[in-house]
Amino acid sequence: SPAGTAELLSAAVGTGRAVAAFNVLSLDHVEAVAAGAAAAGAPALLQLSENAIAFRGAPEPLLAACREAAAASGTPLAIHLDHIEDRELVARVLPRAADFGIGSLMFDASKLDYDANVAATREVVARAHDAGVWVEAELGEIGGKDGAHAPGVRTDPAEAASFVAATGVDALAVAVGSSHAMRDRSAQLDLELIARLREAVPVPLVLHGSSGVADDVIAQAVAAGIRKVNVGTALNVAYTAALRASLAEQPDAVDPRRYTATARRAMTELVTGFCRVVAAA
Ligand code: G3H
Ligand code: ZN
Repeated sequence: SPAGTAELLSAAVGTGRAVAAFNVLSLDHVEAVAAGAAAAGAPALLQLSENAIAFRGAPEPLLAACREAAAASGTPLAIHLDHIEDRELVARVLPRAADFGIGSLMFDASKLDYDANVAATREVVARAHDAGVWVEAELGEIGGKDGAHAPGVRTDPAEAASFVAATGVDALAVAVGSSHAMRDRSAQLDLELIARLREAVPVPLVLHGSSGVADDVIAQAVAAGIRKVNVGTALNVAYTAALRASLAEQPDAVDPRRYTATARRAMTELVTGFCRVVAAA
């Protein structure tokens, strides 16, 4: 069965390293994460966002693929639901969390003001903990999401400490300079703020938008206290570039196996690279 997110994160806290978490959209993504993490000899999280669930139409087929990939994997893989804003979705999935091997979810009420974020998150934490599910929440909205604040927004350490105490969350996504959906790895992170947040907050810190962060900066962020590194866009950039090249090289191909194989391999190599960076930091 899949690994538990709580166990993978406690191990990362113990070693002062991080776990990479990858957003999956398709079976190719699931296979690439499993193969890429195994090649690195590192654990990883398979994460399924609310947007991805909406795109697929239902969570079950991809969750079943994650569960089976984790069961067959030689390296620990945990299953996580990412950026869940819809509390109805939480209520629908939690009773079946054990069936699907869901170890954790991220509830994202970061668009709400502080008090409303606390109230909504606290309620989800109570329900999720009853179902044995570990919860990540977000404070200080991270840039690059629809309608998000400018990337200049930062999480305040004192407010973060109060938020964690008031909600009982198990991990906190923090706004420290990264931004979602970047196609180049040029984000500047506030490493000193990460270190202050680590001092102030008793739970693991999560970096979102890691596709936009260079390897050496990710390593510095882990050294400063980041324990979970979320990667989505970089997989899709690699997949799409390889797919375009493959289609151009084989204009007569009609079998998707011929033109998606290199695209899946490109994602696999990227997963291995991110896993090595966070595990070695
Ligand atoms: O929650 C998912 C991550 O924050 C992914 O962000 O697509 O910019 O790598 P990214
Ligand atoms: Zn994110």
